[in-house]
Amino acid sequence: MNSPEQLVEKNSPQHVAIIMDGNGRWAKKKGKIRTFGHKAGVKAVRASVSYALKNGVQVLTLFAFSSENWNRPAEEVGVLMELFKMVLGSEVKKLHKNDVRLNIIGDTSRFDSKLVSKIREAEELTENNDSLVLNIAANYGGRWDIVNAAKQLATQVHTGKIDVADIDEETFSRHTCAADLPAVDLLIRTGGEQRISNFLLWQIAYAELYFSEDFWPDFDEAAFQVAVDVFADRQRRFGKTSEQLS
Ligand code: IPE
Ligand code: IPE
Ligand code: MG
Repeated sequence: MNSPEQLVEKNSPQHVAIIMDGNGRWAKKKGKIRTFGHKAGVKAVRASVSYALKNGVQVLTLFAFSSENWNRPAEEVGVLMELFKMVLGSEVKKLHKNDVRLNIIGDTSRFDSKLVSKIREAEELTENNDSLVLNIAANYGGRWDIVNAAKQLATQVHTGKIDVADIDEETFSRHTCAADLPAVDLLIRTGGEQRISNFLLWQIAYAELYFSEDFWPDFDEAAFQVAVDVFADRQRRFGKTSEQLS
């Protein structure tokens, strides 16, 4: 049992990132086609946003589509794009009502113009909200993010705006996605695989990793709570010794 002091001291994550994996296997297990699983996954997105709002998570970053997911069958990619459009249409008002700021992180230049304008509208509508920042990573790749930051800095050096000596971890951070947000505290991956799959690389340097066997459509508020409880029991040492921290 924890003493009241220990309970008060327990860490809660400010920034949670989730690799929403396992939709296809969830559907297959039910004898359905993969895209049925993607549609079912929307409910779990709602549940995780709701959990974050109720429990003081400040930033929630969800991996919806990786830069490598274009390599899937065209039909599946097509359904995912349509679903993305549909969900933006149906959920944005509610997100706005709940004071959620929505950001899409990733290379949106490959999306069709209708989707890009829906993304812009949603971001503009919610830009002043501050109960929760919800980042949806779409056509996102951790390596792309780092290369993008390097390109921006190289351009600034080239045009004389900054010196090479001005580049440090903080300036570099500022040119990555989610620049002005706290670093990721907790990274959750559902679906049983234990890998990063080119999600946030720079931003998870000191994140706690939590792998769940649940397929994404089964992930609910109780499952989110379990991950947060596990996080609270971890000791984050950031290079120090346990003795220094106790
Ligand atoms: C995650 O579920 C959703 C996306 C990658 C878009 P998957 O579609 O990868 O499901 P599994 O891993 O094949 O079960
Ligand atoms: C990672 O899942 C991407 C998303 C959840 C959006 P994948 O299913 O694409 O990852 P791999 O291919 O199994 O590593
Ligand atoms: Mg997968």
